[in-house]
Amino acid sequence: MGSRSHDNPFSAVLSGLLDQRSKEPRVTPVPPGVQLDGRTCLVTGANSGLGKATAIRLAKRGAHVIMACRSGIPEAGEDVKRESGSNQVEMMHVDLSDFESIDRFCDELRNRNVTLDAAVFNAGVVPVTSRTNKHGLELMFAVNFLAKFVLLDRLLRAGVIPNAVYGNNSRADDPPRVIFVSSETHRSSIPIDFDHFGKPVEYGVSDGVKYYGLSKLHLTTYFQELSRRLNPAEGSSPDVCVHAVCPGAINSNMAREAPAWLKPVLKPVMALFFQSPEKASIPVDYLVVSDEMGRETGAYMHMMRMKESSEASTDPKKGALLWSKTEELLRTHGVL
Ligand SMILES: NC(=O)c1ccc[n+]([C@@H]2O[C@H](COP(=O)([O-])OP(=O)(O)OC[C@H]3O[C@@H](n4cnc5c(N)ncnc54)[C@H](OP(=O)(O)O)[C@@H]3O)[C@@H](O)[C@H]2O)c1
Repeated sequence: MGSRSHDNPFSAVLSGLLDQRSKEPRVTPVPPGVQLDGRTCLVTGANSGLGKATAIRLAKRGAHVIMACRSGIPEAGEDVKRESGSNQVEMMHVDLSDFESIDRFCDELRNRNVTLDAAVFNAGVVPVTSRTNKHGLELMFAVNFLAKFVLLDRLLRAGVIPNAVYGNNSRADDPPRVIFVSSETHRSSIPIDFDHFGKPVEYGVSDGVKYYGLSKLHLTTYFQELSRRLNPAEGSSPDVCVHAVCPGAINSNMAREAPAWLKPVLKPVMALFFQSPEKASIPVDYLVVSDEMGRETGAYMHMMRMKESSEASTDPKKGALLWSKTEELLRTHGVL
């Protein structure tokens, strides 16, 4: 499978445009009448862009939607209620760059005995230049990858996401779904540097996209490893369905930190050629709702097409190494 370059803002924009014109076969969207009444779905980063559109879609299907957000509380929740016509929508605060905030968020879900039928880990960030979070870790690496590892560790161990391996509360007859919003940029990323794992890197406007791709390679390699770990019996039906998606180029707030000189070019290009968040949320909806995706695990979608994620991300040795290096790093920060 060919991989397009995404190593600077211009090639990333061009690649986004070409992706939309691909003629490869697509899956059929789940029709609007399929309901999720009585189901609970978590969406992170649900105050904006793809996350908000996903929250609206799932609320329209009758799910109880928990919008996990750093900002936009309560306005974004009110928007989602209004646009979906549902009152089964609530907002919870979490700052995914802050491990203590993640802990408080997971504790609250556990203490309320919440059981998630689906969790969409959507939140992501593209800082204009490198910076570190309060734990001294590079922000994009922390939010786009590490935060998901910590969230899943907590939610699986607490059984908030039912599972046999960490929670001892398997629901294999009706497996929960874990969906990660990744990006095709993982495909042309530089390799993961396991020798300097977690060491903050420095980048500016021109090479930020390269490290964004790397953060998504971490995430995609992790998603494949998580799928294997939660479903160790190969060939049998999954205990937890773990999938990932690249939604394609979206006219969202993702480029909010783009430098002032770039915005006049970027904004009209995004508005004209990129998909709306509503359209971009159709494959996410498919992964959460379709019967097919409840019978398998480890699926990767690029917009409405099923694909293999990159070779590097599917290598079990790299997956296992990423897992152990991440645990080691989190232990040094007192998180595990
Ligand atoms: N836009 C694209 O072309 C594109 C392409 C491929 C993949 N994606 C992926 O799609 C996902 C959604 O992005 P989007 O395009 O919808 O962009 P967006 O409108 O900027 O939404 C990003 C969301 O992530 C949240 N977030 C960022 N840092 C956070 C933190 N520390 N704690 C909690 N939430 C945080 C943001 O919250 P705040 O509003 O509070 O910052 C916002 O809700 C991301 O994972 C992105 O990588 C986007």
